[in-house]
Amino acid sequence: MTFDPDAAAREILRQNDRGTYTVPNGKVYPFQWNWDSAFVALGFDTFDRNRAWIELEALFAAQWDDGFVPHIIFWQDDPGYFPGPTVWATNRTPVTSGITQPPVAGSVLRALWDSANAAGEAEQFRPRVEKLFDQVLDWHRWFSNHRDPERRGVVVAMHPWETGRDNSPEWDVPGEPIDISNVGEYVRRDTGHLDAKMRPTKLEYDRYLALVQFGRANGWDHGKIAAANPFRVADVGMSMILLRANRDMADLARALGRAAHAAELDALVARAERGIDWLWDADKACWCSRDLLTGRSSGFVTSASFLSFYAGLRDTARDAAMLRHFDRIAGKVRYMVPSLDPDDPGFQMIRYWRGPVWAVVNYMIGCGLLEQGYTAQGRRVYDDTRAMMNQTGFFEAYSPIDGAGSGGDDFSWTAAIWLAWQNAG
Ligand code: GLC
Repeated sequence: MTFDPDAAAREILRQNDRGTYTVPNGKVYPFQWNWDSAFVALGFDTFDRNRAWIELEALFAAQWDDGFVPHIIFWQDDPGYFPGPTVWATNRTPVTSGITQPPVAGSVLRALWDSANAAGEAEQFRPRVEKLFDQVLDWHRWFSNHRDPERRGVVVAMHPWETGRDNSPEWDVPGEPIDISNVGEYVRRDTGHLDAKMRPTKLEYDRYLALVQFGRANGWDHGKIAAANPFRVADVGMSMILLRANRDMADLARALGRAAHAAELDALVARAERGIDWLWDADKACWCSRDLLTGRSSGFVTSASFLSFYAGLRDTARDAAMLRHFDRIAGKVRYMVPSLDPDDPGFQMIRYWRGPVWAVVNYMIGCGLLEQGYTAQGRRVYDDTRAMMNQTGFFEAYSPIDGAGSGGDDFSWTAAIWLAWQNAG
């Protein structure tokens, strides 16, 4: 039988669909995840528009009063995951985690609205777009109020899981001050499902848990956490993604005739365009994350570095420097874009965010490059992403060396990107 990737991708979304939300993968990740759901909505939008909107609506149904949107929503308990709801102890209904994730939802909302318009169904979706717009805007205000203490227009992550790039080496040095002496005993579930070689280490997990315990001890008060958390890193990925989402939301505000909101969002964009300079590492000639507590740049070239194109930053000299990194890396791996520079001594082709290629990051990088007219590089990312999926199926991530699947299989957001990215050529 020949592999029909379109049908297979739709089938994965259907299988992982729990009615109003989609699990990233039934075994390893049995709940709703924030940015996974946003990408999943893009996939659904290609064959079931209503279901796409429901996915975002479920995510925002879990929004807290202060505007925060959690990274996990535990709609139903499942013993197959650690740390579960009792470890987080956020005391919310629905039960959620206490940290957030990269804010792609605003950009996705705009895409869903554009697609409804193109299909001539705008009026039917208008009440839903109005409501979601307000919810996303509140979340963006939350970022501005709680995750940008110096008002630079960047996003400061309080936990490596917030960045979505859990074990990126960017968090190694900033993670050192985290006290892990009182973490206690615990049983990981991820390594029961998957080869430990593909997963974060015990030291990394101890740090993840210590930060969860810190948040819990502070009653998940985001003001207190922002002021005292032992880990505070301006994440280049989240900062670029929020800049892009603020631009998309500003455009959406104009489309919806909300002039005051458009002005508010334009001001956030302007602040980010100035402030994000701080994440430029002149020595590396690259966009990198920076530790807020020490002021030090990570110095790592990661896939998130290449999100500057997606963010819409236009700087000829810096673009050229980033393209040089791109071309150098492209000469070393078969499949772009590895999550860590293969010239880095810490590069590991199957260990999670220390080497493997992630389809959702590729999607953002590829769209950014193509939008800005860097067609050869954009095309390379697009072709490589499609080729990996076609060859291997819809894995969590892939080895950049041979395209082998890494992590879980039948992954929702990977399938969704296949569907969403049918027509980029
Ligand atoms: C892992 C990834 C994160 C993703 C989650 C669910 O934690 O690092 O980005 O959201 O799995 O797929």
